[in-house]
Amino acid sequence: MNRNLHRTESHPLGIIKAAIQEYFEGRHPGEFRFFDDLRPIVKTEANFDELLIPEDHVSRSPNDTYYVGDGTVLRCHTSAHQAELLRGGHAAFTCTGDVYRRDTIDATHYPVFHQMEGVRVFEEDDWGGEGDGTAHAEAELRSTLEGLAKHLFGDVECRWVDAYFPFTEPSIELEIFYRGEWLEVLGCGVMRQEILEGNLPAGASGKRRRAWAFGLGLERLAMVLFGIPDIRLFWSGDERFLSQFKAGDLTTQFQPYSKYPPCNKDMAFWLSDAFTENNLCEVVRGVAGDLCEEVKLIDEFTNPKLGRTSHCYRVVYRSMDRSLTNEEIDALQERVREEVVGQLGVELR
Ligand code: PHE
Repeated sequence: MNRNLHRTESHPLGIIKAAIQEYFEGRHPGEFRFFDDLRPIVKTEANFDELLIPEDHVSRSPNDTYYVGDGTVLRCHTSAHQAELLRGGHAAFTCTGDVYRRDTIDATHYPVFHQMEGVRVFEEDDWGGEGDGTAHAEAELRSTLEGLAKHLFGDVECRWVDAYFPFTEPSIELEIFYRGEWLEVLGCGVMRQEILEGNLPAGASGKRRRAWAFGLGLERLAMVLFGIPDIRLFWSGDERFLSQFKAGDLTTQFQPYSKYPPCNKDMAFWLSDAFTENNLCEVVRGVAGDLCEEVKLIDEFTNPKLGRTSHCYRVVYRSMDRSLTNEEIDALQERVREEVVGQLGVELR
C-alpha cells in the first residue's frame, strides 16, 4: 500500500501518470489541479452513496470490495474522491491512486491497481446558455479524451461505445485501434447533476453548471503501451525490470529478461457455502503471493443424487524473477490445500 508506484517518476505507472497530467496542463494551462496522495481508505459513502451507486449494486458486495471495518473500505475506484474534491471547490482536476478489488487471478488482474480520475466543470457561458449543457460537456469530453489517446498512443483510430455507470449519464467508453486490436481505454460520461450540485459550492454568479468525468486504469494503459505482459511485473523490485524505464519516455518496449517455467497444480473439491472464486483466489494469494500467475477452473460437475458440485481448479505457479524449485511449489500447494479447507470449508477430493 505504501509503494507509491504512481509517484515514482521512472516507474511505468509514474511515467503514464505524468504524461496524462502533462496533456491536461498543455491543453488548459493552469486550470487543472493534480492530486495523487489521497488516502485509499475511504468511507463507504464516498465509495458508493455519494456516487449514487444503488444499494444492491454488485460492487458493494464483500466478495468484490475490501471492507476494512466500521463503514470504511479500500476505495475500489478513484471516483470515491469526486464528491470530496468538488466540495473543496475544485472544478478541474485529476486524482490518481491505488485502488483495490477482490478478483480472480490472471495476467491482467491484481487486487491492487491504479486509476486516474478526471473531472472538469463548465459554466453556462461555456455552452452559450442553450439547453442544459449536456451536449457541450459530452462533446468536450469526447474531443478531450480522443486527444489524450493520441497523446499517449500516437495517431490511433478511436471509437465510442455506450456504457453504464451509476454516476454519469450518458456514459460511454473509449476504445482505440492499436497494433491490430480494439482496446478499451477508459470509462466516462457527463456527471449526474445531483453529484455536481450537491457538492460543488454555488458560485456568486449563480450560473448553471455541467461537468464531465472519466476514470482510467494505469496498468492497463501501461501494459499496452510498453508491452508489459504480466501485471505482477509492476510490483517487481528487480532491476532488470525497473532499469528499462526512464522518466518522460513513452517509447520504451519492455524486453522480457527471461521467462521462467510455469508449474501447474490441480486441485478438486466439493463446494461449500463460503466458496466463491474470489475467495479462493484470496486464499491462494495469501499463501503464494506473487508466485501465483493464474487460477482457473478446468472442470466442474454436479452429482444430482448428492446435490453437490465439484470444481477442479488449476493453480499456475511462476515467478517473474527466478525459477522455483519443486519442493517450494509442493509446499505452497500443500498449504493452499489446507487453507481452502480451513478458510472456505470445501471438501478436497
Ligand atoms: N469509476 C469507473 C470505474 O472504475 C470509471 C469511471 C469514472 C466512469 C468516471 C465514469 C466516470 O470503472
